[in-house]
Amino acid sequence: MAAIKHLLNLEELAPDELKEILDLAVRQKSDPESYLRARPLYGKVAGLFFEKPSLRTRLSFEVGVLQLGGHCIYMGPEAGQLGVRESLEDTARVSSRYVDLMVLRVNKHAALETFAASSTKPVINALSDESHPCQALADLLTIREKLGRLKDITVAFVGDGNNVARSLARGLAKSGGRMILAAPDGYEFDAEFMRKFGQNGQVRVVRDPAQAVLGAEVIYTDVWTSMGQETEAAKRLKAFQGYQVNAALIARAPNAIVMHDLPAHRGEEITSEVLDGPRAVVLDQAENRLHAQRALLTVLAR
Ligand code: CP
Ligand code: NVA
Repeated sequence: MAAIKHLLNLEELAPDELKEILDLAVRQKSDPESYLRARPLYGKVAGLFFEKPSLRTRLSFEVGVLQLGGHCIYMGPEAGQLGVRESLEDTARVSSRYVDLMVLRVNKHAALETFAASSTKPVINALSDESHPCQALADLLTIREKLGRLKDITVAFVGDGNNVARSLARGLAKSGGRMILAAPDGYEFDAEFMRKFGQNGQVRVVRDPAQAVLGAEVIYTDVWTSMGQETEAAKRLKAFQGYQVNAALIARAPNAIVMHDLPAHRGEEITSEVLDGPRAVVLDQAENRLHAQRALLTVLAR
């Protein structure tokens, strides 16, 4: 791992770097021999520090690193909360002496920033309360695969303006696409985010999901209550009534594909009928976590 390059949110990637990762993901997906032979992570070890549970992110990182010839060590919540037994800075400095790369899933994005500032090895955000850039890489890869391009694609994100929505909005803005977020009052993107991305119409916020999906090529949703927000679950369930992605809503955009980062709360933000239906691409999307991250790791290893 020559150059230190963190991926804390997609803003670190220039549009051409983002495109390079997606292009490589497509090539590797169709030609496994290329990376199985080259083993760009041969002899390298990745440390996975996860403060929250995970299926897709953990498994796809572990598989991806193995396929590139490297090894993963998982440090889950049972290994202790980051920053409790010792400072985040000390954990980052010490871990940098052992491993070649760190993948962190954290409660607070600020902890990730503090950790990365003291790490001498690349740090990848595997989800924070603020963003989920690895999910966005897979989402962009999936949209490109299904619709042939990212430029001028409109994604209607129905629900919470959360970590997943923010990262995808950033990725779309970098790729010439746009996002329309349909969210209830208090759950939209904040003013700073809109100042950055809302200037030239690349990100818009509306209240009405039916309005958001009209003309959209992608309808996307995520849980109404994210990890760490469990105490707000009842309040959120009430606030998001009317924001469910169901048969009636997707009928307003007859050609749109339906995306969800998973895990889904069936019957809340999306019905099983839609999630299991012919327009949902969620399993390909989940698979693409592996292809997108494998490409990211390959680029980081150069
Ligand atoms: N989409 C996603 O990040 O899933 P996990 O929480 O299972 O990793
Ligand atoms: N917004 C969700 C995404 C889970 C992959 C959460 O943060 O819990």
